Amino acid sequence: MSMTLSPLITAVHFPPISEVKGWVAQRPADGPELIDLCQAVPDYAPAPQLTDHLATLLGDPQLSRYSPDEGLPEVREALCGYYQRKYGASLSPDNLCLTIGASQAFWLAIVTLCRAGDEVIMQAPCYFDHPMVLEMLGIHGVCASFVEADGGLPSPAAIEGLITSRTRAILLVSPSNPTGAITPPEIIAELLQVARRHNIALLLDETYNEFIPGGRRPHELFRDPAWGENLVQIASFGKTYALTGYRAGLLAASRQFIHHALKAQDTMAVCQPRITQQAVKFGVENLDSWVAGNRAMMARRHDRFREEFTRSGNPFSLSSSGAFFAWVKHPFSGCSGRQAAKKLVDQAGIICLPGEVFGAGLEGYLRLAFGNIREETIPEAVRRFREMDV
Ligand SMILES: Cc1ncc(COP(=O)(O)O)c(C=O)c1O
Repeated sequence: MSMTLSPLITAVHFPPISEVKGWVAQRPADGPELIDLCQAVPDYAPAPQLTDHLATLLGDPQLSRYSPDEGLPEVREALCGYYQRKYGASLSPDNLCLTIGASQAFWLAIVTLCRAGDEVIMQAPCYFDHPMVLEMLGIHGVCASFVEADGGLPSPAAIEGLITSRTRAILLVSPSNPTGAITPPEIIAELLQVARRHNIALLLDETYNEFIPGGRRPHELFRDPAWGENLVQIASFGKTYALTGYRAGLLAASRQFIHHALKAQDTMAVCQPRITQQAVKFGVENLDSWVAGNRAMMARRHDRFREEFTRSGNPFSLSSSGAFFAWVKHPFSGCSGRQAAKKLVDQAGIICLPGEVFGAGLEGYLRLAFGNIREETIPEAVRRFREMDV
């Protein structure tokens, strides 16, 4: 290629899921059947009542048109009902912008908050797409260290110690991807106080909020009438309704924040596709009990996984787990997470992600998305870890 590319993008590593899936093509043909613990995707189909409903809409010519950039008013109205039930909050449709997955909501949030040279504090291990976005934009991601003894939970004091005059946001993913750690509401509230003291944003990515056991309220922050001063939330309905390919995301913030974010929305995507908006509307109006059933199933998967994985004799050890993920230490001394993950592909037919894609110094770990596999497959998946040659 003779043209010059931006050094900001060439320096970014290739998407790790694509990299790891590429190893599968090279594995021995007579290897065991694959068990995919790599990309977090619910293994089950969307609710049939949702897909039946969407089928009735396909002939409507409106469905193939643009919608307002922020999404249809009736869909955002329905979402306000969801926020009332889930968070006990009175949001207005003007607080919401429907996006192409939580991924695009993150872009909107970041370009609205930061410019090149600014800093965002992230809790390590970090969901890899977040530092990738920051690097492409010349924004510095500053990592709060992973403390294994704290189960990967953030320490508001440690995070406050990292704030400088360039910091624009504290980013927290809860439940965490990759550790599964669910940050307690009190710690989330403390983080908002830290953000307030420094006039910066608390940027909460709650992609897995529907997988908190028992459906507990993730936090109380939206009940504070002044929440929009410092809180920006990223949400996804991809995992909630098993619609990852529909790209069903959402940005929730103050009216003023959304007003500016819509400039980016208009230039990046214009709007979330109407079919996705209709899916989200149907979901929030009809599927609470379907979601609760899947949440209970996911909790059973988690319990089963923990029980099998932590029985003595496993050379891998569990560091933390919850919601959809387990974060484990591999036993291969002197091996990177990539080398360990590759061994698992070749020898055991297991695909998972190497620790180092979630931050520097995390080569000793692997991320397993146990939420992808059925309860009855969990013993077989864990047996393959237990029987690895080390
Ligand atoms: C923490 C986190 N944020 C955002 C996303 C992206 O979600 P979406 O598919 O809605 O873009 C993911 C997807 O795995 C995720 O794990």
